[in-house]
Amino acid sequence: MFYGIIKVRFCDNYYFSCMLMPTGRQQADKTKELTIMPQLWGGRFTKETDQLVYDFNASISFDRKFFGQDIEGSIAHVVMLAKQGILTKEEKDAILKGLTGIRQDVEEGKLAITEEYEDIHSFVEAKLIERIGEAGKKLHTGRSRNDQVALDMRLYTRLEVLHVDELVKELLCTLLRIMEENTDTYMPGFTHLQKAQPVTLAHHVGAYFEMFKRDRLRLKDIYHRMNYCPLGAGALAGTTYPLDRNYTASLLGFEGPTLNSMDSVSDRDYVIEFLSALSTIMMHLSRFCEEIIIWNSDEYRFVEIDDAYSTGSSIMPQKKNPDIAELVRGKTGRVYGALISILTTMKGIPLAYNKDMQEDKELTFDAIDTVKGCLALFEGMVRTMKFRKEIMERSAMQGFTNATDAADYLVGRGVPFRDAHGVIGRLVLYCIDRKCSIEDLTLEELKEISPVFEADVYDAVSLQTCVEKRLTVGAPGKGAMQKVIEAQKEYLTRDWQDEEGIYMTKDSGSGK
Ligand code: ARG
Repeated sequence: MFYGIIKVRFCDNYYFSCMLMPTGRQQADKTKELTIMPQLWGGRFTKETDQLVYDFNASISFDRKFFGQDIEGSIAHVVMLAKQGILTKEEKDAILKGLTGIRQDVEEGKLAITEEYEDIHSFVEAKLIERIGEAGKKLHTGRSRNDQVALDMRLYTRLEVLHVDELVKELLCTLLRIMEENTDTYMPGFTHLQKAQPVTLAHHVGAYFEMFKRDRLRLKDIYHRMNYCPLGAGALAGTTYPLDRNYTASLLGFEGPTLNSMDSVSDRDYVIEFLSALSTIMMHLSRFCEEIIIWNSDEYRFVEIDDAYSTGSSIMPQKKNPDIAELVRGKTGRVYGALISILTTMKGIPLAYNKDMQEDKELTFDAIDTVKGCLALFEGMVRTMKFRKEIMERSAMQGFTNATDAADYLVGRGVPFRDAHGVIGRLVLYCIDRKCSIEDLTLEELKEISPVFEADVYDAVSLQTCVEKRLTVGAPGKGAMQKVIEAQKEYLTRDWQDEEGIYMTKDSGSGK
């Protein structure tokens, strides 16, 4: 089958020999005799692809990741082609046997996805033809790699939306447990990182619960919007074969087919939306990590990160560093980077498919893997973290976190709020001078500043009253908090992934 030996320029002055076929590639391996794989589109070409061009253009090193989805899409396509009489039953059976055999062999490690193919689509088609002969050449009838890759990416992303959602849900379960156990754990609430008013640990963690709950809503929303099948759009203008696009869509668990073939092959909105949701998840994780790093410091000592989730220093024997929290915070930039990169890639692309869009994959895959890793590690770190309740409570009693309540006490006795604010401001100054808290002052001292104070002020400004009287919806008081916890518990029993039509390919093999 070889047509000869030629020399191919590899780098500026470096040449290596390779075997020549009319329109193939040359593998840049300086040590071995080189195998050349014919390209799917070779017919129109009279010259070899330049090696550097080949390498620059090829995507198999990363699109192998959706090998399972490529097979799954091909199976649906072939079943539809046979139903429409475009393939015979015998051809369909042969192709399906070939495709499932390839999938099994790759999964069992008997068949390697090697890089002498341009992309995963070429690999599957070449292997199919190698195994079943003529019928294999009919697989691509009524299909283009443009709608094929649009489908593969959508199938892959759709599944990953569910995987990420699952991890966020696991984190929510852990957060809810911490909330349930800490409705009485008082701690300072901060604004400007200055102590502001007392809250509880349950309430503080509850804020993150809300954030991650919204993240799940975003994922659900994206899932439904992206759940339309682009296969059958062809290269850009549909096809003259009588395809049943509704049928293909239903075989693959989609709501239906996409409705404009040009948009179908050039839409990557769902990737951008997913990366945006992932970026928001990372932003939330990063904020929480930032707090944990502060809380874990010797100055705060609100928490102690478990040894299993900490690291040491090569020089300072005493160190126990919050590296995991720092890494999660650090990796946030990487996920934002993927979002900005793809937004920028897409902004100047004329309709319809352009090769720029191949750039959607590596960064998206990396972002998904990064977020999944961060979610799993963060959940473990929080689950095993020790909360130092006494230190939190002591801290909540310092820093005049009850000053607003002291002003509210005066308001309750007829002093206009603005005047009460001024009185308590002077009271705080007086306490700072004497290095004490409001409740440390005698009633005589208090009355000197305002005669309105009575003995019941001590109870009104106690830490417990300050928290427990805050009972409006969403406030930290135990009564309010318990109602929220009940609602969140009920929310976690419902699962949008159980909704009818939500499709999870359990056996989607991967070409990792
Ligand atoms: N590897 C390509 C991609 O990721 C597949 C589509 C190729 N289509 C084409 N017209 N060259 O976008």
